[in-house]
Amino acid sequence: MSLESEIEKRRTFAIISHPDAGKTTLTEKFLLFGGAIQTAGAVKSNKIKKTATSDFMEIEKQRGISVATSVMGFEYSEKQINILDTPGHKDFAEDTYRTLTAVDSVILVIDCQKGVEAQTKRLMEVCRMRNTPVIIFVNKLDREGKDPFDLLDELEEVLQIQVRPLSWPIGIGDSFKGVYKLYDSSLRLFSANKTEIAGDEIDIKGMDDPRLEELLEDSADQLKEDVELIEGVYDPFDKEEYRSGMIAPVFFGSAINNFGVKELLDTFIEISPTPQARETATRVVHANEKEFSGFVFKIHANLDPKHRDRIAFLRIISGTFERNKFYKHIRHQKKMRFSNPVSFMAREKSIIEVAYPGDVVGLYDSGNFKIGDTMTEKEDLAYKGMPSFSPEIFKELVNTDPMKSKQLEKGVRQLTDEGVAQLFTKSVGNIKIIGTVGDLQFDVIQYRLEHEYGAKCRFQPVNYHKAFWLTSDDKAKLNEFIRLKHGNIVYDKDKNPVFLAQSAWIIKLESKDNPEITFHENSEFKVSV
Ligand code: G4P
Repeated sequence: MSLESEIEKRRTFAIISHPDAGKTTLTEKFLLFGGAIQTAGAVKSNKIKKTATSDFMEIEKQRGISVATSVMGFEYSEKQINILDTPGHKDFAEDTYRTLTAVDSVILVIDCQKGVEAQTKRLMEVCRMRNTPVIIFVNKLDREGKDPFDLLDELEEVLQIQVRPLSWPIGIGDSFKGVYKLYDSSLRLFSANKTEIAGDEIDIKGMDDPRLEELLEDSADQLKEDVELIEGVYDPFDKEEYRSGMIAPVFFGSAINNFGVKELLDTFIEISPTPQARETATRVVHANEKEFSGFVFKIHANLDPKHRDRIAFLRIISGTFERNKFYKHIRHQKKMRFSNPVSFMAREKSIIEVAYPGDVVGLYDSGNFKIGDTMTEKEDLAYKGMPSFSPEIFKELVNTDPMKSKQLEKGVRQLTDEGVAQLFTKSVGNIKIIGTVGDLQFDVIQYRLEHEYGAKCRFQPVNYHKAFWLTSDDKAKLNEFIRLKHGNIVYDKDKNPVFLAQSAWIIKLESKDNPEITFHENSEFKVSV
């Protein structure tokens, strides 16, 4: 098959949600449709259990198991689907943000009872940064929830994206009767069924079809009214607007009952983008360029001391990746080849000979890779867009075994290369501040420094609220600010200056007092305050 047809065939995306909205359940139903798993519950058993939140070893163990499900590839309707898994646990939110740089679109799951939740909002902000196309699936319609019109308003308002319903629920909770597919005027009546496609599909000839009354009885009038309102309020669905991230189609259903899932998957296949071009520091690289290029978006370290290997996950952007062929590691300026690259089809890891744009290959690594690294057979180019977001918790790392300073330095460098946490250094006194999204990472760092590098540390609380990356067109002003605020200035791993603010109030004040300086909430310098 030609490179073009391989690209045309592929869809690489992530399913994201606030924990508990139904991401795992929906993923599982997709895999069942694709024949990648045979029984319900197979993915679920890999999910990090909510009860284990304070026991990081337990979580790491489960994360170890979930390497196999980091990428779930399967074929459906002649398409090669790659679902990139994202950890639901809040403390691993950074992992999720990075995974979003490696997908071409996302499906966002919302709980109809809870509406837009905190994590949903944050995830959507990350999608908006790259104009990633989003399809929204409103889940749990078998339970009482918010009014669908109110939900649509909430989605638009809170997520700041225009929405367009493509299916519409008939009733909700106990009175839930099914969904009406707005884009092809067919009706699917609800019947709870966890393993097969639920309900029969019935073609309806528009809202005047007399069968509507027969099938829906007293709910028919409500549906007619709703549909009329929808057609009046929302513009017709435009695939290009969706693909440019301007409009999000919305589906309703119940993942656990396998209801509305097939409609979602079928539409997804039809409208979602094929592997997309990506920006590098020098130019845009297109998927159909012959030479291979890709970037590492995730590194998974094995905590088992008997298997101290790491797997770097590389997303292919252009060309054909081949086993045992030499490619250039741009940061190290060195040629490398991989004798055992793995792919993740049907939840099995297997060695692959070739892979194409949109695919993710797992590369066994002994410490050569860092998140964001580019591998290529093209000219020297480096993919952009592996942003760091401001951490939420900051602690100073204190070396408690000065004889092992070297090991500590190496360990901290490697762990932060893997993306376990962010490292900020104060220029005076080489003070190391570790920033994370959750408390769990501090335990992970302490444990791994001791067990893998033989170094010991403790963490000392520091009172910072948020990190802001600094830029200015006026270099003198920026240097002056850095000099004056040296107590709050640290440098990230790439030596960019960062201001650590003690409170939201301080950052408001500083940005007002220093209009020449921009305070960015992430290292990609797009979102700023
Ligand atoms: P997550 O990955 O987003 O965290 O969510 P997950 O799929 O684990 O779903 C969270 C809970 O919601 C699960 O219940 C799941 O069974 C339930 N759920 C998912 N889809 C639906 C739906 O369409 N309707 C209803 N009523 N419930 C749904 P749990 O009790 O936490 O787990 P379990 O004991 O069922 O495994």
